[in-house]
Amino acid sequence: ARTAVVIPAAGRGVRLGPGAPKALRALNGTPMLIHAVRAMAASRAVSLVVVVAPPDGAAEVKSLLDAHALPERTDFLIVPGGAERQDSVKLGLDALPPEYDIVLVHDAARPLVPVDTVDAVIEAVRDGAPAVVPALPLADTVKEVEPASAAGDPEPVVATPERARLRAVQTPQGFDRATLVRAHETVTDNVTDDASMVEQLGLTVVVVPGHEEAFKVTRPLDLVLAEAVLARRRL
Ligand code: C5P
Repeated sequence: ARTAVVIPAAGRGVRLGPGAPKALRALNGTPMLIHAVRAMAASRAVSLVVVVAPPDGAAEVKSLLDAHALPERTDFLIVPGGAERQDSVKLGLDALPPEYDIVLVHDAARPLVPVDTVDAVIEAVRDGAPAVVPALPLADTVKEVEPASAAGDPEPVVATPERARLRAVQTPQGFDRATLVRAHETVTDNVTDDASMVEQLGLTVVVVPGHEEAFKVTRPLDLVLAEAVLARRRL
């Protein structure tokens, strides 16, 4: 089985201009996207990485990839992305050569995922799961609310799911390629991860242990944390 990774990195913010685009923001001097590509290429099982670039940023992404040393065994493709994350992933899938039968989807915004997590996801797909997500238990209790109709109004709590049954889901998420392609052809709802599209097909998605260092770089504090993790790795 050959494995490819699709990295959606075409978010609206991912453009040159004031306030650096997230995927191109530097962590310890190297763009987040490059960290994410390296994290995927670190797995010996991964032989192709497809980066889904901003529609007008493909040339910049190509020069970034050319400028940073990446393993010889890994091929790269750059394709322009779409309006929504789902569209970008679909465009990445459309670009995959036929010989890849396992596909991982990994957010550029999770640059520090350890290779052991990547390998665990691939292994679970190889063992026959149609869809695999790395996930961690939650530290916070989670409440479902009725979203306020006007900004600033207090929001009533609707429910409190039992925390022990909840998991925070990370990437890379791994798939049997045919299953993921069918999910993207069938499901048209707006979703926030790829595995939920497979759930909507009625198939079972399985969870493998995630990793603290696979956190999503979202807020300013996450940049501080990411640079601290990188500094600790160099020790
Ligand atoms: O917005 P969100 O945090 O869900 O984005 C997750 C990933 O999807 C990011 O790496 C972002 O660049 C990517 N994305 C994309 N195309 C879009 C929107 C988001 O590739 N149209």
